[in-house]
Amino acid sequence: MTTLTVLPSGKSYEVAAGTTLLKALQDAGEPIISKCGGEAKCESCHVFVPAGRKSLSKIQRVENEKLDGIVGVSSASRLACQAILGEEPVTVEIPK
Ligand code: FES
Repeated sequence: MTTLTVLPSGKSYEVAAGTTLLKALQDAGEPIISKCGGEAKCESCHVFVPAGRKSLSKIQRVENEKLDGIVGVSSASRLACQAILGEEPVTVEIPK
């Protein structure tokens, strides 16, 4: 288990390591959108990870290519459907 803190709500959740950020956010009831069902095709699950990035799975080519096409990405950007939670706490910000 690890701790997932979500902005802007500021709520924290205990979540299982090994699940995707997308599933953890959905299970928590946070307002994350997934138009493609987690296939790295829609970009709707774009989030920022201001803390704990190293705890997440590494960015793979398909995610990297999608991120390249999103306006407003930063070095903290991830596709929530592609980022798998590790054991360390993570803070994630859902863009408006
Ligand atoms: S849910 Fe579509 S890219 Fe992540």
